[in-house]
Amino acid sequence: MLLFNTQKELVSHLNSVSNETTSIGFVPTMGALHAGHLSLLEESMKHNAINVISIFVNPTQFNNAEDLAKYPKTLESDIAKIKTLSDSIIVFAPSIDDIYEGKTVASPFNFDGLEHQMEGKFRPGHFDGVGTIVKRLFEIVKPNNAYFGEKDFQQLQIVKKLVEKNKIPVIVVGCPIYREPNGLAMSSRNERLTDEERKKAAIIYQTITEARKMFATKSAKEITDFVNKVFDKSTDFELEYFQIADETTLLPCLRKSKTKKYRAFIAVFVNKIRLIDTISLN
Ligand code: PAF
Repeated sequence: MLLFNTQKELVSHLNSVSNETTSIGFVPTMGALHAGHLSLLEESMKHNAINVISIFVNPTQFNNAEDLAKYPKTLESDIAKIKTLSDSIIVFAPSIDDIYEGKTVASPFNFDGLEHQMEGKFRPGHFDGVGTIVKRLFEIVKPNNAYFGEKDFQQLQIVKKLVEKNKIPVIVVGCPIYREPNGLAMSSRNERLTDEERKKAAIIYQTITEARKMFATKSAKEITDFVNKVFDKSTDFELEYFQIADETTLLPCLRKSKTKKYRAFIAVFVNKIRLIDTISLN
């Protein structure tokens, strides 16, 4: 395994081991790796000769200083996990200065409205931060294929839009959500949950699974009312939003159309820890 802490060193290494015909696979992460991240790397390794993973907690995508401060940073154990897959994976773990060169600010992006829904409403500026770092990382790594988890489905659609609008020559691949045995979607933030909270967090997947069952016969409003009631009754979990939306435009579903694909999106707080999940409905 090769570890690079500066873009200069990484780029110089990639230039020395690749040419136009070498396929580079890339998995951008913020570390605190779990089985979901490793599955992205495995997918990358199936299709690419060179595989790069970045580990960088990007400050410009956090709208909440406490969330940023408490974001788990576990580089050593991340590296140990990567080594279990292969010794040839390239790890890029730059400093904030190396990436932002003294100007730690996000650039403004227009993602044709995708950025104004759900996460965008509740985390102002979040997708400008994501757009800024993903574009920067794509410019540095120049991957042929980049792998993102579907748990952050809105982010996945936004990265696809970023690539389309900026004509970046990379294929963005969405990969299935990895779940704990109780259904909780794997997330680096789960590390901050107590054992009890982790167990109880099964309510999130149970509720959206029920929403999927209801989708065949109930309206989006009826399902949303049901989800609100579930969380009104809960003393541990606070619902931030539940939305049934068109998978492509991310606009809320007001009346179901047979020709459209829909998804449920949810964000929930447990003891100030924010968890999100999503499920395809049809
Ligand atoms: O999904 C994440 O972990 C982050 O948003 C990403 C894509 C690595 C950008 O910082």
